[in-house]
Amino acid sequence: MMSQFKVLITRPLPTTLEKLEAIAEIEVWPERQPPAYDVLREKVQAIDGLLCLLTDQIDQALIAANPALKVISQMAVGFDNIDIAAATAHKIPVGHTPGVLTDATADLTWALLMAAARRVVEGDRFTRQGKWQTWEPDLLLGPNVSGATLGIVGFGRIGQAMARRAKGFGMRILYTDPHRAAPELEQDLGADFVSFDQLLQEADFVTIHTVLSAETHHLFSDRQFEQMQRSAILINTARGPIVDPAALYRALSAEQIAGAALDVTDPEPIPTDSPLLTLENLIITPHIGSASRQTRKQMADMAIANLIAGLKGDRLPHCVNP
Ligand code: DGY
Repeated sequence: MMSQFKVLITRPLPTTLEKLEAIAEIEVWPERQPPAYDVLREKVQAIDGLLCLLTDQIDQALIAANPALKVISQMAVGFDNIDIAAATAHKIPVGHTPGVLTDATADLTWALLMAAARRVVEGDRFTRQGKWQTWEPDLLLGPNVSGATLGIVGFGRIGQAMARRAKGFGMRILYTDPHRAAPELEQDLGADFVSFDQLLQEADFVTIHTVLSAETHHLFSDRQFEQMQRSAILINTARGPIVDPAALYRALSAEQIAGAALDVTDPEPIPTDSPLLTLENLIITPHIGSASRQTRKQMADMAIANLIAGLKGDRLPHCVNP
């Protein structure tokens, strides 16, 4: 039987493709690196549906290369790599994968918070370098996590999941967001709505969970670091460009803040000669917030469900366009 549709998946996925195979001819980009932009734009012209990742730049020109595309399905909750306005103008639905990665991402954020506070990575380096000679009263001291103040910037699903974890550690929880949460939710999570400035000034740990947009690009720069406590630790598992990397370097090297942990950088991957990589008080992981086996499979399955719905002309289960 002839397949009804042609689809491109821009990397091998951690799930099975049977449901899609039943209705479509599938090309899977086989390499570890994403297809180059020009290659992708060429390929998009010959397909009905695209399943892409956050590493693929889906801009206006790429979308215009095939305005008859039936669907763009991104395997991620974030979609700042896709020009949603251009897709909407061509009536192309865009899918994403919210919800399934909330806990995995909050878990990794929590791991980074704990690791930065208790200097886990420094301790590992210290040990491997043969520097562990005895138990010392003041070796690798860090701040308490229990009872400290957590500042959550962006109180969506992942920000709220952080509040849930922080509650278990008896932390004081502050959050800021363009939209205040319902009073019942604030009460349930024990979270206080404050201004961005108050959060910066009072938090021992500041964790970023907002989307990347024109408003949040370099939301953290010199002025914000100057407002934070010298003992404060910044964690970013959202999007790299929310933090100005040059300003972060200045703040960490001058000990304007005590430490940072990043799962996302600007650019990605971080250049190997980035001055940030010379700092002892910075932890960096390679954008693995959602990287639990179960979560990545759920994300892939959800992206396929969105893709199939779009090919069939049905409303996507998780659609980004208004
Ligand atoms: C997302 O989904 O947006 C994360 O950055 C990757 O899981």
